[in-house]
Amino acid sequence: MTRIALVAYGTKNGSTAEIADFIADVLRSHGLEAEARPAAGVRDVGPYDAIVLGGALYMGRWHRDARRFARRHRHHLAGRLVWLFSSGPLDASASQRNIPPVRTAHRAERSLGAEEHVTFGGRLTEGARGRVARMILDEGRGGDFRDFDRIAAWAESIAAAVAAEPAHHREEHISSVKEGRDA
Ligand SMILES: Cc1cc2nc3c(=O)[nH]c(=O)nc-3n(C[C@H](O)[C@H](O)[C@H](O)COP(=O)(O)O)c2cc1C
Repeated sequence: MTRIALVAYGTKNGSTAEIADFIADVLRSHGLEAEARPAAGVRDVGPYDAIVLGGALYMGRWHRDARRFARRHRHHLAGRLVWLFSSGPLDASASQRNIPPVRTAHRAERSLGAEEHVTFGGRLTEGARGRVARMILDEGRGGDFRDFDRIAAWAESIAAAVAAEPAHHREEHISSVKEGRDA
């Protein structure tokens, strides 16, 4: 049975959405059904065998939409395959060493029993919103530090882990929906 994966994301300037789209592409190329969606718009996680949740980092915090998604869906995600990522550092550090999650992402990692959390480099380029963004750009500290080779390798490891797991969650969901309808 084809496994279905959701890649949900919280973004302000769009670069985390692009990472999510890319991860969904890689998952699809490895035989999964996968869709990338803004975390704030997801109402039901029932259909998914696996969830990847990513958030941009702002002022040391995981993007609000990612935090809220983790909180809102924590009961449904318990026991489900979940992976988390953050995107932020505007230098090569994320490709050079393992950057631990910020506190808000770590909390989600614990409450969801996530398989793993990784931090990827971020992007800040012309057109980014906000006064601090403008300052960073004026200081010449912007750029695109997303390492798509590393992101692809991570997504491939997720595809392999999902393929190795029985697709029981969705079946449970479908049967519980049917039971509700037949009752
Ligand atoms: C105001 C502001 C605050 C930021 N704070 C952090 C931070 O605390 N940690 C970090 O690693 N990156 C930080 N960044 C970099 C962003 O996380 C990076 O630009 C990210 O790729 C933005 O994602 P988005 O395009 O999806 O919004 C900050 C950027 C801005 C503009």
